[in-house]
Amino acid sequence: MQRYAQDTLEKLEAMRQKAFLGGGSKRIDDQHHKGKLTARERIDLLLDEDSFEEFDLLMTGKAKAEAGTQEFPGDGVITGHGTIDGREVFVFSQDFTIMGGSLGEAHSQKICKIMDHAVRVGAPIIGLNDSGGARIQEGVESLAAYGEIFSRNVMASGVVPQISCVMGPCAGGAVYSPAITDFTFMVDHTSYMFVTGPNVVKTVTHQDITAEDLGGAAVHNQKSGVAHFAQPNDILCLREVRRLVNYLPSNNRQRAPILDLSDPIERIDPALDYLVPANPNQTYDMKILITSILDGAEFMEIQPHFAKNIICGFGRLGGQTIGLIANQPAVLAGVLDSLASVKAARFVRFCDAFNIPLVCLEDVPGFMPGPEQEHGGIIRHGAKLLYAFVEATVPRITVIIRKGYGGAYVVMNSKHIRCDINFAWPTAEIAVLGPKGAAEIIYRKEINESANPAETLRRKTDEYRQMHANPFLAAKQGFIDDVIAPRDTRHRLIRSLQFLESKHVDQPPRKHGNIPL
Ligand code: HXC
Repeated sequence: MQRYAQDTLEKLEAMRQKAFLGGGSKRIDDQHHKGKLTARERIDLLLDEDSFEEFDLLMTGKAKAEAGTQEFPGDGVITGHGTIDGREVFVFSQDFTIMGGSLGEAHSQKICKIMDHAVRVGAPIIGLNDSGGARIQEGVESLAAYGEIFSRNVMASGVVPQISCVMGPCAGGAVYSPAITDFTFMVDHTSYMFVTGPNVVKTVTHQDITAEDLGGAAVHNQKSGVAHFAQPNDILCLREVRRLVNYLPSNNRQRAPILDLSDPIERIDPALDYLVPANPNQTYDMKILITSILDGAEFMEIQPHFAKNIICGFGRLGGQTIGLIANQPAVLAGVLDSLASVKAARFVRFCDAFNIPLVCLEDVPGFMPGPEQEHGGIIRHGAKLLYAFVEATVPRITVIIRKGYGGAYVVMNSKHIRCDINFAWPTAEIAVLGPKGAAEIIYRKEINESANPAETLRRKTDEYRQMHANPFLAAKQGFIDDVIAPRDTRHRLIRSLQFLESKHVDQPPRKHGNIPL
C-alpha cells in the first residue's frame, strides 16, 4: 500500500515537473533574453511567498492533435489564487513559452474559472498578459473563448477590482479585456497593445511604423490613455501592482483596508499658508499640497503621464484610502479639457463602485475654449465628469484652493451636485467668469466710451475681483461650509471623513443610467 502510494506520488511529481517547464528551457532562455520574466517567475514576485495555489496545472483541453497543435499541460496559462500582504487575489499568467501564450479554448476556460471564483468569493482579479492572441489553429473556438473572458470582465466590473498587466504582446480583439479592467500596467519596451499590428497598418494605410511606436507603453500612457501605469521592467511592474492592491477593498461590499502610517490626524502644515501666489496668474504645483496633507506623504498617482492638467490617485487620510482628484495649475493652468474630463470621470466611477471616498482639490479656470475642443466633443466629455460626480454616493469633499469658475466650478464636485462638504481657502475665487473676462462683458459700454479704455478695464477688473472673486459670497449662501486656513486642511478633511463614514444614500430604482459615452 505504502509502495503504491509512493509510485503514484512520484508519477504525479514527474507530471508536475514537466508542466512547470512550460515550453522548455530553450524558450525560457529566449524569454529572459527578451528582458521578460517567465509566467511563473511573475506570479512568484506578485504574490506573498509560498501563497500560490494553482488550479488546472495538468489541463490540456480537447485533443489538440485535431487542431494540429502539440499538447502542453496547462495549455499556456497558469491560474490560481494567492495573497498580497495577506489578502486573497486571483491571478492568471500567460506563458509565452507555450505556443506564444496564444489563447485557445482550454486556456480560456482556465481563466474563466478563476474569474468566476473571484466574483463568488469577492477578491480582485489580476491578469498577467503575454500572448500572441487568438490561437490560430483553434480557429473560431479561440474567438469564442475570448468572448467568454470579455463577458466575465464586464460582469465583474464594479464587483471586484480587475487589474491587467500587459507584459508582452497584446493584439487584436485581445486588447479589449485589459481595456475593460479597472487598471492597466505596461512594461517599457517589452509590451505593446494594438487592434491591428504594423503589418496590417502597412497594408491598409501604407504607413511604416514599429510596434513600439504604434502601441508601446509610452504611447498608451502618454497619448491614448489606454494604460494607467508604465514601469521599466517586470519586477517593478509587479511591485506596483502589489502597492495598488493595498489601496483597494477586495470587493464592492467591503471598505479598503485601514493602514496606520502613524501620521497624526491633527498635524498642520504652516507652509501651506504660502502655497498660493499673490498673483492669480502665477502658477504653483498642486502636488505640494497633495503630499502635504496625505498620510506619510504617500500618493499613488493614476495615469501620471496622461492629461496632466488633472491629477488622480490614491492616498490615505487617517489611515483610510481616499480617491483624490485635483486640478494641476502648473499644467495648462489646470483647465478642464476633454482628456482630463474623461480621465477623472473614470477614476471617480471606480472609487464610487468600491466605496472609496472622494476628495477634490480645486483650482480650475474653466473648460478649455476653442474649436479643437468643441469639435472633439468637450460637451460630451465634460458631461461624463459631471455625470460621474453626480451619481457618486461615497463620501465626497471638495476644497477650493484658488479658482472655481463657471461650469467647471459646478462640475468639480460642487455642493450643487451632491457633494457633502465644501471648504474653501481664503484665496478661493468663485464666480461665473474670471474678473477680466467678466469686466469686459458687463462693463463693455462704459469701457469703450471712456477716455482711457485700458485703464477703465483694469479698474473694473479690480472692482469685480474685490466684489466677486472670493469665497465669501458662496459662503454666505451656504455653498461653502467653511472658509479654512490652508494649514488646517488635513485635519479638517479627516474630521469630515470620520463623520461621513456612515453616509447612506438611497437611489431610485432603475436598470442603469445613460452616461454620455
Ligand atoms: C498560435 C502562435 C500565435 C498564435 C504566436 N504563436 N502567436 N501560435 N497562435 N496566435 C507561436 C509561434 O508560432 C511560435 O511557435 C511561438 O508562438 C512564438 O512566436 P514567435 O513568432 O517565434 O515569437 P516572436 O518573434 O516574439 O513574435 C511574437 C508575435 C508573433 C509578434 C506575437 O508570434 C505573432 O505575430 N503572432 C501572431 C499574432 C496574431 O496575428 N494573433 C492573432 C491576433 S487576432 P514556435 O513553435 O514556432 O516557437 C486576435 C483576435 C482576438 O487575437 C479576437 C478576440 C475577440
